[in-house]
This record gives sequence, C-alpha cells and structure tokens, in this order.
Amino acid sequence: MSSTQRTAIVTGASRGIGAALAQRLAADGFQTVVNYVSNVAEAEDVVATIKAAGGSALAIQADVSDASAVEALFLETEARFGAVDVLVNNAGIAKQSPLADVTDQEFQQLIAVNLTGTFNGMRTGAKRIRNGGRIINLSTSIIGHYQPGHGVYVATKAAVEGLTHVLAKELGDRSITVNAVAPGPVETELLFAGRSSHIIQRLIDDIPLGRLGQPEDIARIVSFLASHDSGWINGQILKANGGRN
Ligand SMILES: NC(=O)c1ccc[n+]([C@@H]2O[C@H](COP(=O)([O-])OP(=O)(O)OC[C@H]3O[C@@H](n4cnc5c(N)ncnc54)[C@H](OP(=O)(O)O)[C@@H]3O)[C@@H](O)[C@H]2O)c1
Repeated sequence: MSSTQRTAIVTGASRGIGAALAQRLAADGFQTVVNYVSNVAEAEDVVATIKAAGGSALAIQADVSDASAVEALFLETEARFGAVDVLVNNAGIAKQSPLADVTDQEFQQLIAVNLTGTFNGMRTGAKRIRNGGRIINLSTSIIGHYQPGHGVYVATKAAVEGLTHVLAKELGDRSITVNAVAPGPVETELLFAGRSSHIIQRLIDDIPLGRLGQPEDIARIVSFLASHDSGWINGQILKANGGRN
C-alpha cells in the first residue's frame, strides 16, 4: 500500500465500459479496484491486463444493490490500497420492454442495480472519499429521447442525474466533485442484448459521427473527470454520443 498513490473504485468493471475505465484509471496511476457481481474470471482478466501493463489492481466482488456489500467494498479497498479518491458508479443493467409489459421483478431489478446501487456508492463515497476526490456516475444520453421500451431504464438514470446534481452541492466544501457521464450507444454486451443487427445499423445511421461509441471513448472522459485538471467541473452531466442528442 502506498499513501502517496491515489485509489479508484470502478463498479461493474469486469467487462464493457467499466473494464475500459478501470484499465484507463490504472494507466493514469490509480491503484484500481475492479468490482464485479458474478463474473470473477473476467474481473481477474481485467486485473491481469492492468498488472501486465505495470499498473496496480485488485478484483473485489460486491453487489452494488446491497448497501452492506458496498460498505465492505470500501473497507476492503481501504485495507489494501488506503483511502479512496475516486469512485465510478458504472455498474448497470438495461432491459427494454413496453411499460405495460414490465414485470414487478424487472422494475425492481432495474431500480435495485441502477438507482439503489448508485445511491449506495454515492452515500458511502460521500462519507469515505478523501477531500479533493471525485464521484463519477454513469447515466445515458437517451434520457430526453423518450423512446418506447426504455421507460424504466431512463427513469433510473434520470434519478441518478438528480442525485448527481444534489450531491455535487453537498460535497463542494470538501472539494469533492460529483459529475455524470451520459454515453450514447457504446459497443458492449448491454447494447447488443435484445437488438437485431438491423436495429444496431439504425442506431449507427442516427449518429452524426457515423459509428458506435467504444468503451475507450468513455474512458478518456472519465480519466479527465478523475484528474486534477477537471477540478472546476462539478454537478455536470457530460453527454458523449457522437452527436446523437
Ligand atoms: N453500452 C451502452 O450503450 C451504454 C450507454 C449509456 C449508458 N451505459 C451505462 O454504462 C454502464 C456500463 O454499461 P456496459 O454497457 O458496460 O454494461 P455491460 O457490458 O453489461 O457490463 C455491466 C457491468 O456491470 C456489472 N454489474 C451488473 N450488475 C451488478 C451489480 N448488481 N453489482 C455490481 N456489478 C454489477 C457487471 O458485472 P458481472 O460481469 O459480474 O455481471 C459488468 O461488469 C451502465 O451503467 C450502463 O447503463 C451504457
């Protein structure tokens, strides 16, 4: 453990956007915790990739929807790496369904992971992150599109944006910034699940830059928000969507 090094936790970092965020923050010099809920092998692969590149990383299992598991995630991180400087609340799930067909279980699961999970991270982070630290949440730029089938997913992310604005004001006196990144379609399992190649092509056609986002596109933004250079950016939602507003 090094007290001079900074430490970051990325939730949901075993694959997709989170894996790229963890690798980028580790490359930036953070001791990085790769959180996951079930895919231990993929989380360990991310850790191995970071270590092979000379970085410092550790995989820690925790279901973000469980408040006590999130507390334990922080405690284990502190024991191994020291106090946390950056928390990225990235873990999330998506499910598309017309509102009339959403089951109670689907509704509760989306709320549990996307909203309660992010809240659990923000609440623990607000108490434990070092002064001058960063909390970065993942929203989505499809808020505002009001697309059929996305109602509950969008509701969870709209709530995350609300929490982001409020906590940014509450932690300002400790120089902790709280921001969110709102990606457009990014090439991950979450995006491809339940979408035909025809629908994916329609998405691409709708993006002025003519391509899907890559996890690394989001990692560059999170890298900046986690850095000292972003110190005057607080309470903002940064859209990264190739112009698909
Ligand atoms: N991809 C997009 O187009 C897009 C666009 C806008 C916003 N986003 C947001 O970006 C974030 C990452 O999305 P993604 O596309 O990278 O998703 P993904 O590829 O499906 O990966 C999801 C990650 O979240 C983890 N996770 C799921 N439930 C969890 C829980 N209860 N506790 C802890 N970790 C959990 C998974 O861990 P396991 O591997 O262990 O299951 C995995 O590491 C999400 O918040 C999503 O809403 C994505």
